Amino acid sequence: MHEHTLALSTHLQDAVVACFGDAYAGTDPELRPATRPEFGHLQSNLPLRLAGPLGLPPREIGARLLAAIDLGGLGTLELAGAGFLNVTWSPDVLSDAVRDLLRDPHLGVPAPATAQRVVVDYSSPNVAKPMHVGHLRSTVIGDALARVLAYAGHDVVRQNHLGDWGTQFGMLVEGLIGDGLHDPAAVAALDMTELLALYRRAKARFDEDPAFADAARQRVVALQSGDPTTRTLWQALVDASMTEFDATYGRLGVLLDDDDFDGESRYNPQLPGVVDDLRALGLLTESAGAQVVYPDGFTGRDGAPLPLIVQKAGGGFGYAATDLATIRHRVDDLAVDRAVYVVDHRQSQHFDMVFAVARAAGWLPDSVEVQHIGFGTVLGPDGRPFKTRSGETVTLAALLDAAEEAASASYAGPEVVRMVANAAVKYADLSNHLARDYVFDVERMSATTGETGPYLQYAHARVCNILVQAPQQTYELGALSDPAEQRLALELTGFAPVVGKVADTLEPHHLTAYLYGLSTALTAFYESCPVLRSEGELRETRLALCEATRRVLSAGLGLLGIEAPQRM
Ligand code: ARG
Repeated sequence: MHEHTLALSTHLQDAVVACFGDAYAGTDPELRPATRPEFGHLQSNLPLRLAGPLGLPPREIGARLLAAIDLGGLGTLELAGAGFLNVTWSPDVLSDAVRDLLRDPHLGVPAPATAQRVVVDYSSPNVAKPMHVGHLRSTVIGDALARVLAYAGHDVVRQNHLGDWGTQFGMLVEGLIGDGLHDPAAVAALDMTELLALYRRAKARFDEDPAFADAARQRVVALQSGDPTTRTLWQALVDASMTEFDATYGRLGVLLDDDDFDGESRYNPQLPGVVDDLRALGLLTESAGAQVVYPDGFTGRDGAPLPLIVQKAGGGFGYAATDLATIRHRVDDLAVDRAVYVVDHRQSQHFDMVFAVARAAGWLPDSVEVQHIGFGTVLGPDGRPFKTRSGETVTLAALLDAAEEAASASYAGPEVVRMVANAAVKYADLSNHLARDYVFDVERMSATTGETGPYLQYAHARVCNILVQAPQQTYELGALSDPAEQRLALELTGFAPVVGKVADTLEPHHLTAYLYGLSTALTAFYESCPVLRSEGELRETRLALCEATRRVLSAGLGLLGIEAPQRM
């Protein structure tokens, strides 16, 4: 289909030159999908844009262009409104495009011009703490981006940057010992509720009991110097948390597994080198006992330069040092072309500064693109950041429970309920502009009508239900005569471009909107075009359209990480 759009664009450019001379060579007609079905399939505002430079009324320009163009069998061109060109593809062009789609297991998505190796850093929860709504967003968005990039032909490396290092582990290990929990196997078997209780007890003691706080600080030193007992208990805490996170990933149906964990602790041995190298490069400054870098272009509200703290006054390394070591690992060892960090937008300054320092240090060559994909906050029904009644952050498990409860009102069977709940949560999360905050409204996102995940699953199940009644190896598509057939065919041709667009922009909402549009076209098609009750070539053609739609819906939902049951 794309080649036809290109051909059309060339025809229009040739016509511009033929009518108005070489000075206008290379004017892009900017063909866009028509805003309404009655405008045909594509639109261009070329006459309006040329009116100024040519000093002619747009409609006159349009009329002259129309007279100079012969689209052959490609389609028809019309002048409309104040000076728009409306393109309507010929039904043959559309049916050819659907035939191509049916023949291609990759549904028309081409290999990229240059395949990249891309790190997607996502989910990244913290040990001994339940995942919260923010981690939900990172997990859902990161997973969709990882799937789309891979489908678009890139080599994706998933990196779950687990928060498994830092001073809080001194407190946690000391807490374990205080609780008499010395057996690593028992610690590794703790579940998230127990881990959280441990965390809270240890934190309370740390704040109240100076002797405990002292012992906890000693534990940090013991952990960093590799004391075996401390290390073993720390590892057991990490293992217990990973088991819990893996269970959540399984429940959510995301790609992340044990192999994708690449936690902060693995960079610990590299941190002194980060500081030494920055010092050797002359980038390090001492500020109140801490080692900091002032990257160019970052100032606080008072106009003073902002420091990135790489080593704290006490000698400890923090989050920024780890992220610098992480960049070096990704560039040097993983040889990535692009790194995408899917993290709450509140961390955007952290990443901007880390990226700037890594560039200044020469660790991040210009050829490697790094992007922080920030996202907005999940809000409660009151429009404020989502909290439990007692004012705590809502856990991811609680959100999924609520979604499953809503889904079980309309669907039976634990697997279908789980899939519908995930679809509700994921679609609602991905269909907004990422930067926007959104309200977690479980009733609305679970509705079976409107722009929801369950509605798309239902569209898919409905088309499956038709196809099982006429099972065939292949479906032969004939001529498309009904406008609803043509519209559905046109929608189908939009799949490959939208996958490319999401891979480029990293904005999943283009894909959610596309799939919703496709489902709407499918509904309109059912209303005017009986499938199983038709006969002969017509029936075959409509079945072929159903089959193509089924494939695109299933692949498209799959790219969002949404499972599409055959029946629901
Ligand atoms: N663990 C962090 C958090 O929960 C997110 C880590 C994001 N990734 C990174 N490379 N810093 O906020």
